[in-house]
Amino acid sequence: MVNKIGVVGLGYVGLPLSCAFASRSFKVIGLDTDLEKIELIKRGETPIYEEGLQDLLKRVLKEKTFKATSSYRELVEESEACFICVGTPSNPDGSVDLRYVREAVEMISEYLKRLDRYFLIVVRSTIPPSTTCNLVRKILDERSGKKLGEYGLCFNPEFLREGKALQDIFNPDRIIIGSMDERSGELLLEIYKKFHGDSMPPTLVTNPTNAELIKYASNVFLATKVSFINMISQICQRLPDADVRIVAEGIGMDKRIGREFLNAGLGWGGSCFPKDVKAFLRFGQELGLHLKLVESVIEINEAQIAEAVRLADNLVGGLNGKIISILGLAFKPGTDDVRESRSIQLIKELLKYNVRIKVHDPKSLEKVMSILGDKVTYCKTIEECLTDSDLCILATEWAEYKEINQEILKKYMRKPALLDCRRLYEPAQFKEIKFAAMGLGY
Ligand code: UDX
Repeated sequence: MVNKIGVVGLGYVGLPLSCAFASRSFKVIGLDTDLEKIELIKRGETPIYEEGLQDLLKRVLKEKTFKATSSYRELVEESEACFICVGTPSNPDGSVDLRYVREAVEMISEYLKRLDRYFLIVVRSTIPPSTTCNLVRKILDERSGKKLGEYGLCFNPEFLREGKALQDIFNPDRIIIGSMDERSGELLLEIYKKFHGDSMPPTLVTNPTNAELIKYASNVFLATKVSFINMISQICQRLPDADVRIVAEGIGMDKRIGREFLNAGLGWGGSCFPKDVKAFLRFGQELGLHLKLVESVIEINEAQIAEAVRLADNLVGGLNGKIISILGLAFKPGTDDVRESRSIQLIKELLKYNVRIKVHDPKSLEKVMSILGDKVTYCKTIEECLTDSDLCILATEWAEYKEINQEILKKYMRKPALLDCRRLYEPAQFKEIKFAAMGLGY
């Protein structure tokens, strides 16, 4: 029975995972090579914003079931199974940069060499199909001098949504275990049985390559679903009386389709979808396949930005010289993450039109400053952001923006006009001002 768990990489995946394991009968040692991050975590502060994480971190530190380190020696010596949760960023050509995975596996191998007991390595980072069987196993064999069987190896994808990471760790839809051999798979299954107790989620045990493919296919499918509804949204925009929200509701009532991930708008962003969809396209090329569907999914996503600019331009009778308030900068609500945020992409596009842009976000203003610098004005309150502007664009659907009504817009804006890019508002509530929404026929 495994009691001691190591986690490599204390980012959006690794830190919530560490805290969750530490809160349920495991002793956890988490490693990161960023020393500043380690110091922060030791003080009980989370380097990222994730609902409930700060409290849970404080609790597991107090109970001494979690500790943070930068030493691989400590990590391997003080754990029985280790989860690799390091980043897998994109190379300029869209392929996956496996540098951090390679580094982590090499370092683990160095200490595995000196270990005289079984040790399980679990890769959680998203990696292209066959990477576990080829690259990861090869490094482990060569660097540790041991053979599979003396150590265990699995690929175990995560399906965490940012902002809901803890919720998804405690209640996942499914667990996918890609094990190199029976013993590795059984041990990982045991860890999850201990973690979930009576509420063990549905589980699929397979080989690593299938598990790696399941991870990519899931994200590509979800991005496809969003791009599909955005294609319908483009149709609706050109049809009087059509409304993509109603169409989504109608098609979503079919159990085979389902209503989730049919919210039309600016498109998909974030740290996973853009990277994984591009990597999948590239992966297809390496196999000699031209994945045209995936290519279109990306094209539709890009086209939504142009659609939003077109609607904004129509709404205010030309963008030239206008002051625009952008509400929401994070790639979705509930996170401070702005990676591949559609809102920032929209701002970059709007800046080409001689406009002045004021921005607001409840969590990510500071992060955006390092991206957009002095090109936009940063506002701490919604009111400040709306003051004197000609157009308000709702780009990320934070719950607090729901409180905005036409009286507020009339009070603060120079010429009140609202473009709802995430379908947060009921159009009927904005009858007295200029209003447009993505996917709503004119
Ligand atoms: C996603 C997957 O959901 C998760 O399983 C995987 O582990 C990581 O990638 P995340 O990036 O946190 O999670 O965001 P998600 O909530 O899936 O949204 C992704 C993007 O799609 C966001 O930009 C969101 O605004 C957009 N989206 C989502 C839509 O535009 N419409 C929808 O209906 C759903």
